[in-house]
Formats: sequence, structure tokens, C-alpha cells
Amino acid sequence: MKALILSGGTGSRLRPLTYTGAKQLIPVANKPILYYAIEAIRDAGITDIGVIVGDTREEIRRALGDGKEWGVKISYIEQDAPRGLAHAVKISESFIAGDDFLMFLGDNLVRDGVTDFVQRFRDNKPSSLILLSRVSDPQRFGVAELENGRVKRLIEKPKVPPSDLALVGVYLFDNRIFEAVNAIKPSWRNELEITDAIQYLVDHGHLVDSHVIDGWWKDTGKSEDVLEANRMMLEYIESNVSGQVDADSQVIGRAVIAEGAQIINSTIRGPVMIASGAKIVNSYVGPFTSISRGVHIVASEVENSIILEDTHIEDIQTRIDNSLIGKNVQISRIRERPRALHFVLGDNSRAEVQ
Ligand code: G1P
Repeated sequence: MKALILSGGTGSRLRPLTYTGAKQLIPVANKPILYYAIEAIRDAGITDIGVIVGDTREEIRRALGDGKEWGVKISYIEQDAPRGLAHAVKISESFIAGDDFLMFLGDNLVRDGVTDFVQRFRDNKPSSLILLSRVSDPQRFGVAELENGRVKRLIEKPKVPPSDLALVGVYLFDNRIFEAVNAIKPSWRNELEITDAIQYLVDHGHLVDSHVIDGWWKDTGKSEDVLEANRMMLEYIESNVSGQVDADSQVIGRAVIAEGAQIINSTIRGPVMIASGAKIVNSYVGPFTSISRGVHIVASEVENSIILEDTHIEDIQTRIDNSLIGKNVQISRIRERPRALHFVLGDNSRAEVQ
């Protein structure tokens, strides 16, 4: 069996972060979202992985390389524009070369992995096995209607959802999917939808099996989703304090403080992750915060946030909460009069002040 990871897409709902980087490489608990997919696939015993790339191809290649780091073999498949998930399957036919395959959307996180799901496909040999999850906002997803456990109908982003069962971005297929992706027509958003291709399989009498997961899953399309994913992943960390914590600081609860991080006269209340080269001085870092390499936090309070590489936050008197802050950002206080807010924000940035 092979695997396809989809890592194209523009990440429009995660701007401005996605102007300068691929959405799949935004870190959650200090690890790029895409790495979780590679690990889940490898843990399910699949080592031959095709990664579909688009505009962010260089960055994705730099992050994954040939896959040796994970003990897998990665090939890259170029998609000229985001023409849909079924289009990605279409252009991967020669890579798949007659095998069964797992397709994993690179911005999806499935906490419990996909091992059981792959085993079920191997045991039952359906034409396709789809993964479903109950959600409160099914309009945002592909939605399945089941009849006696079998998939009867799939609709992409329905206005009036027939159920609360969303399609998780993890699918298993045998070779019949290629007939389907070649037969369907583009949707209203001008994409070849995988949902329509699976519906084609159902309509042509092929068995489409489904599995409703009860574990946690997230499509990290929006900043709120990324922050929620960060909270979820931090719930599972185990303490490991290798960095330097001075005698005036205290670390309460579970925290990973990497070697080369410095905590000076500060309070760290876990679950928290602080990467190497980060420096926290006279500050408070509260629960559910991930701090990347080279971040400096001085005389400030940060909680429930993700702060990316080399960002400096200094002397901010209101606690920074529920924030996703990109790389190399400077947030500081001006001391002169008039007291005012100074911004240099990229397009589509969001700043909320009191
Ligand atoms: C895609 C699929 C949708 C699925 C979702 C899961 O949506 O089209 O059926 O529920 O991924 O993440 P998109 O991310 O393209 O909006």
C-alpha cells in the first residue's frame, strides 16, 4: 500500500501566516502539522509516500527531504494549481501504479493515528473506506448520509446537511478510484471533488465502507483550529526540563523546556512547550502555549498561544491570550508621549486591543 499526502493549497483562511509559509508547516506543540501525518502513515506500516505540492513546493521539500528522517521514502508530485482533491489523485496514477493507497490531507490532524483504519481496509477490502467524525458545523465539510452503516450519499459543503457526519481528510482507495476521478466534472468551486468521486463509486455499485472515529480530529484551516489543535496536543506532553531555569523562576505543571532555552525570573504554568534558544525573562507563560526557537518574551504575560520563531515580545502590560503570532514579529511598548498604538501589520493581519 502507498500513501498520498496533499500539501498544496493556498491556505487563504490562515493569512497572513500563509503569505510566507505553507499552512501544513505551521507548528502545533512545536511540531509542523505535516509531520504528524508522516508519523501516522509510517506507524500504519506505509513507507512509500507521494507528497502533492503546489506553490509552496520548495518549503515543503526542505521540511521533508527524502523522508529518511522518518524511515519512509518520499516522492514529490507537482500540481500546477489547486484543482481539487480528486485532481490530485488523478495526477498520481503513475505513482500509485496499481496499488491500494491512503490519502491524507496535510492540514488534518488525527490524534489517534490511522493504524486501525488501515487494518480495517486490509481486512474488509472495500473499494473505499472513508473516515467520518461528528461535528457541530457540518456545512464546512463534506458530509455523509449513511443507510444501515453503508454510505448512501456524500455532499460537499451542503447548505442543509443531511447529517452531522463530516468527512475527515483521510481516505483509503483501491484502483477503482481512478475511473471515478476521470469521470467526474468540476464542482461549483471549479475543483474536482473527491466527494464526487466517492459518490461515483457508490453509484456504480462499489462498496464504500465508513468508520466513525470517536477520537479527536481537526482540520486546521483557520487560526482558531490551529490554536485548538495546539491545546489538544499539549494535553499529551510529558514534562522534560532540559533548558536553564534560574532559582527565581518556577515551573508548575507539565512543561517541555528544551535544551538551550532560558527561563529567568519567570513563572511557567503548563502544559507549555518552549523550544531551544527561547528566552523568557521577568514574564509569565501560561497553559497551552507553544514557544518556538529564538522567541524572546520579556516583562510580559502570554497564555493559550502559539508564538513562532524569533518573535520578540517586550513589556506588554495586558496578557496576550489566544493568539497565533508569526515569525520575527516585534511587539513592544513605546515610552514617549503621545501614548498611541503603532502598527506595521501585513495584509489580512488581525490585531485586537482594549
Ligand atoms: C476537504 C474536503 C471535505 C473534507 C475536508 C476535511 O475540504 O473537500 O470533504 O470534509 O477537506 O478536512 P477543503 O479543506 O478542501 O475545504
